[in-house]
Amino acid sequence: MNDRNMDMLLGVMGDPIAQSKSPVMHTAALKALGIPGAYVPLHISSSQLGEAVQAIRTLGFRGVNVTIPHKVAVMEYLDKLDESALTGGAVNTIVNDNGVLTGYNTDGIGYVRSLKAEAVPELSGTRILVLGAGGAARGIVSALLKENPASIVIANRSADKAQELAAAWQVTGKVTGTAMDGAAGIIPEADIVINTTSVGMFPYPDELPIDPGLLHGRLVVSDLIYNPLRTRLLEEGLRAGCTIHGGLGMFIYQGAYAFEYWTGQAAPTEIMRRTIIECFG
Ligand code: ATR
Repeated sequence: MNDRNMDMLLGVMGDPIAQSKSPVMHTAALKALGIPGAYVPLHISSSQLGEAVQAIRTLGFRGVNVTIPHKVAVMEYLDKLDESALTGGAVNTIVNDNGVLTGYNTDGIGYVRSLKAEAVPELSGTRILVLGAGGAARGIVSALLKENPASIVIANRSADKAQELAAAWQVTGKVTGTAMDGAAGIIPEADIVINTTSVGMFPYPDELPIDPGLLHGRLVVSDLIYNPLRTRLLEEGLRAGCTIHGGLGMFIYQGAYAFEYWTGQAAPTEIMRRTIIECFG
């Protein structure tokens, strides 16, 4: 924000954008803390992205979230990239400090904050299996490593991509990549299984990323998907006696970090959660 007396302008850039739950969540958070401002959906096509980023400065937005398909492309238009954006390879939050735009990635740290708050308070020493090797997996593995797990195996449909991603953290000696079939050999010794693939997401809620017969009662099963709120993988986990952790928390906490960067105030996460759950009806 350029002017301290101005209401706080915030928004989310994406294409499409109408489905985003971020406006309703952040609007509730601003209201709860009595911060005058607005958080608006911004429908921006790829060809408009550069101009739209420039407009953050011109219009005096304090910040924006960035969503599909702009999370990688937006990086070239920013003045600075936080370490989270560099290691995550993508930006989901922009902060405007008097015209200087800094890109952050709050997805990975948001996920880990949610996992710790809702399912596994202590991640140190845990053996983790991550399903999927896309952008979401990258941010999450990077944030998980800060919690000192014993090991992380990345299993993916295309094994090459899993191995390539694992190689980025070779120096840690903790991350390996395998084909999705390899999950069968890993799960018996794992503590946490995290689905970062889109398998099981609306409109195909019956799909499963792994054979549910592999699940056992000592596991925490976590799914990044929040539509549906409880995926088939989580249902199968419950049936097998696992602790389950859904994707709603990640959505709330990635937003909470962004809100905290913009406002300097602790995000009202319970109000944000209630607002989103009401949204899902
Ligand atoms: P995101 O940014 O959400 O991670 P992405 O980068 O497109 O999205 O990655 C999607 C991930 O879901 C990938 O790991 C992908 O596997 P491939 O690398 O083999 O494509 C995985 N995925 C998507 N659809 C899948 C399916 N039907 N079965 C198994 N994995 C799937």
